[in-house]
Amino acid sequence: MTGINTDHSIIVAGHICLDLTPTFPPLANTVLNPGTLIRVGEMHRSVGGTVANTGLALHQLGVNTRLMGRISDDLLGDEVLRLLGKVSPTLTRDMIQVEDESTSYSVVIAPPGVDRLFLHCPGCNDHFRASDVTLPSDPNLRLLHFGYPPVMRSIYSHDGRELVSLFEKAHAAGLATSLDMCSVDPMSEAGSIDWCRWLKTVLPHVDLFVPSLDELLFMLGEDEQSLNLKLLQRIGKQVIDWGVGVLMLKLGDYGVYLQTADQLHALFDQDAWLSQSHYCPCFEVEVASTNGAGDYTIAGLLAAILTGQPPQQALRSAVGVGASHVQTPAQLPGWRDIQKRIAKGWKQHEKTLIQQGN
Ligand SMILES: Nc1ncnc2c1ncn2[C@@H]1O[C@H](COP(=O)(O)OP(=O)(O)OP(=O)(O)O)[C@@H](O)[C@H]1O
Ligand SMILES: [Mg+2]
Repeated sequence: MTGINTDHSIIVAGHICLDLTPTFPPLANTVLNPGTLIRVGEMHRSVGGTVANTGLALHQLGVNTRLMGRISDDLLGDEVLRLLGKVSPTLTRDMIQVEDESTSYSVVIAPPGVDRLFLHCPGCNDHFRASDVTLPSDPNLRLLHFGYPPVMRSIYSHDGRELVSLFEKAHAAGLATSLDMCSVDPMSEAGSIDWCRWLKTVLPHVDLFVPSLDELLFMLGEDEQSLNLKLLQRIGKQVIDWGVGVLMLKLGDYGVYLQTADQLHALFDQDAWLSQSHYCPCFEVEVASTNGAGDYTIAGLLAAILTGQPPQQALRSAVGVGASHVQTPAQLPGWRDIQKRIAKGWKQHEKTLIQQGN
């Protein structure tokens, strides 16, 4: 057992896809010339997207987690259910399976020594609707976490009205709402929408907002700029003025920054969480892969909130879970082991904003 001390449960909803990765023999021809045949090995299959990453991370930490991704009744949808069911049969029970659409998938072409190429089909994720979601009657349910609007057409269209409906439904059931983003491809349809207007419509319904700084700067129409606490405070104030309760900005290997409003959802211990701002660097680990680090960091924060940790401790738990995933992506340690490692004085990453005098 992972030893997490909470009965509270959580819904993780939104983007899910099946990642299909042909394996390449070490000496495979890595030049992808049209008209040639390249012999490859078996097809590696895994689930990706918020629902799979943050959802399975929370499950592994011991949080009672309900997954709500939208898939079809096709072969790929069945494979998504099989992979989730292999982790635990309970993880498939709230998945939304529709008829006659295409399950979202990515084909990952990654020959040895060559930059990866993705072929991505948005499929069912483009049609995710608030009406697809039936909130389970679970008295332990506290939070609904959602990601990634920029790759879900029904969610990024019409200034986010569909997501507002979903969050209104969650609030009516007494749940807090949480939102993660992903990067917007400027060349795609999502690249041409007015993200400031979208944020102004959606954020008043968001209790916890957990994007990465780069994603948010793009949406705010701001150029990349040098990272310092002044920038974080200014962006934090902007987002909180638009209605967010708690903002956690992910800063890559610089860690995370938290800023909170003076009014929060009842899920948060008001004495501890009102009007806070804290920066927390990463913990140092040997990097195996930073893929999905953001999603695992969010899972750490959500688990910490559900167990009632105050803000600074919750941030350490967030970067602790993130760093653990970066170190051993295939096997997340249990919640209690991560807490022990933090309590013993886990060394912080050399990159910190404070030490640089910012
Ligand atoms: N080298 C590292 N060592 C330890 N932790 C790391 C490292 N790199 C990233 N992290 C953790 O992972 C988080 C991911 O941050 P990032 O800003 O990349 O989010 P993201 O863009 O949402 O990531 P993702 O691409 O995984 O969705 C950081 O906030 C940090 O906690
Ligand atoms: Mg992310």
